[in-house]
Amino acid sequence: MSEAHAKGRHPASRGRTRGKPQPSPAPSAAPSPTAAVVPDIRPGQSVELLKELHILTRDGKLNQDSRRKLKQVYHLYNFIEPLLEEVMSARGDLTLADHGAGKSYLGFILYDLFLKAREGGQSGGHIYGIETRDELVAKSRELAARLGFVRMSFLNLSVGDSIESPELPEHIDIVTALHACNTATDDAIRFALHKRARFIVLVPCCQAEVAAALRRHKNESFGKTPLSEIWRHPIHTREFGSQLTNVLRCLLLESHGYQLTVTELVGWEHSMKNELIIARATGQPRGNAQERLAQILAELNLEELRDRFAY
Ligand SMILES: C[S@@+](CC[C@H](N)C(=O)[O-])C[C@H]1O[C@@H](n2cnc3c(N)ncnc32)[C@H](O)[C@@H]1O
Repeated sequence: MSEAHAKGRHPASRGRTRGKPQPSPAPSAAPSPTAAVVPDIRPGQSVELLKELHILTRDGKLNQDSRRKLKQVYHLYNFIEPLLEEVMSARGDLTLADHGAGKSYLGFILYDLFLKAREGGQSGGHIYGIETRDELVAKSRELAARLGFVRMSFLNLSVGDSIESPELPEHIDIVTALHACNTATDDAIRFALHKRARFIVLVPCCQAEVAAALRRHKNESFGKTPLSEIWRHPIHTREFGSQLTNVLRCLLLESHGYQLTVTELVGWEHSMKNELIIARATGQPRGNAQERLAQILAELNLEELRDRFAY
């Protein structure tokens, strides 16, 4: 797709050629009439889905706004597709859980562009969308049924509860969490570790918990470390807390044997929160990650957050 581009390839997609990666179109699908007139749409891609996601207008066209949206979707897809390929070729099957799925646009796009063309049954892969808002779950179920996307399930569960839920398999290959609110990203990490995920893809949302703990211990911190100047003003506390949260998440993942790529989800103009973390399981924990985590929590008076970040 001409507009789809990745800013840089990442180690998680090693082994693939450089340049502008193209998601594989459904091999046997005939081009839809829309694909013929809108070059950005791939052969076999569901026009109905793109309309539902408001990527195509009601009359099946792209305007400037929707073209930008489509570009963003492809951009994210370009990061995830190599992971899907890798799991599929290693195992001949894949399971993916998307946490804080919302309208499940990510799951639907992944299904449409990648899973749909695969064989049905066991070898085709399965996507689970996890979401607490029951009306969004109901809508996603209805849309999947209408599109015939039979290997998608939508579970009305919190991320935390999904960890032990019997509705999910014991092992999940890929865990995604895009803008999952507040600590839902942390629960998604816990889920991924519990499910021994091969890949974890996170675009964290705001997380207020660390900033609140910084604020609570502000006075003690002033005596303890000059770094506390960084959280003297509320806006700095919020931003520093947010950055720090992601640093702690990264160390946690590294301490559990994941190799990370931390980059920017460029083109994600509609959100200020565009840090993309891709974790690949290597089984080799970074030597000092756990120690660093403990040191940071101690230095910044955040030891009350050990259970969240250091386990
Ligand atoms: C900002 S939306 C993002 C939706 C989607 N991932 C996206 O990027 O378009 C966050 C979604 O996470 C859901 N959510 C928040 N906390 C959750 C939790 N603990 N468990 C499951 N879903 C949660 C919200 O209901 C909301 O639909």
